[in-house]
Parts: sequence; C-alpha cells; structure tokens
Amino acid sequence: MPFYVRQAASAALAAVAALAGSNALAQVNMEEGKKLFTKTAAPACALCHSLEHAGAQGAIGPDLDELKPDASRVEKAVRNGIGQMPAYKGLTEQQVKTLAKYVADVTGAAK
Ligand code: HEC
Repeated sequence: MPFYVRQAASAALAAVAALAGSNALAQVNMEEGKKLFTKTAAPACALCHSLEHAGAQGAIGPDLDELKPDASRVEKAVRNGIGQMPAYKGLTEQQVKTLAKYVADVTGAAK
C-alpha cells in the first residue's frame, strides 16, 4: 500500500477511535450523573425533583424537565443550596460537574 494511503487509513482509524472513546466517555458520564441524581448525592436530588431521564418524581422542588436549568445554574444550586434545598458540601468538584452536565443534557438545556 502506498505511503499516503496508509497514512490516510491510519488517520481515519485514529478519528474513529477518538470518536468511539468520547462516546464511551459520554455514556459513562450519563450513567454516573444519573446515579449521582438518584443515589449518591445525600439527600438524593430525586427525593425533591422530577427528572424523567432518572425516573425521578419528587415534587418538593421545581420539575427539572420544565425548568431546564443549564449546567451552571445546576452547579450553583448544588454548591450553595437555594431556598429549602441544602448545599451539597460532600460532593467532589468532579461529581458536581458531572451532575450539572447530566441534568442540563437530559433536560435539553444549553451549556
Ligand atoms: C430537600 C429537597 C431538595 C433536594 C434534596 C434537592 N433540591 Fe433542588 N431544589 C429544591 C427546592 C425547594 C428548590 C427551589 C428553591 C427556590 O427557588 O426557593 C430547588 C431548586 C433547584 C434548582 C433550580 C435552581 C434555580 O436557580 O432556580 C436546581 C437546578 C436544583 N434544585 C437541582 C438539584 C439537584 C441537582 C439536587 C441534588 C444534588 C437537588 N436539587 C436536591 C429542593 C431540593
């Protein structure tokens, strides 16, 4: 196989691998976000909020599918608390970001 063909083929392969990798990562983050929402965060977000993707039907806080908060709004609420919602001091930086992105993604909010 001529050199340029080989090079093009390996570039294409690398692109496919990168794509597959990022999809896999996105998938993991979705699973992790859902788990944070329904289980890991204590008290669980799902107790107070409805979020269809997570099968959550809490009715104390706003319905997140309707509110469609973007990631920074979720982060702020989680870090500082708001109204009756507690601040979550026990979550790591990474967990807060994963959770915020998850909620923004599944509700269709922009970043
Ligand atoms: C004890 C019940 C409770 C729990 C648990 C709870 N929330 Fe809330 N949440 C509320 C209430 C009540 C509000 C409305 C507060 C207000 O506007 O006065 C709210 C508001 C919000 C808002 C909107 C903030 C804004 O800017 O208007 C977001 C986003 C949110 N919660 C996400 C979450 C996430 C994510 C979790 C889990 C880490 C969570 N909530 C856990 C009760 C709760």
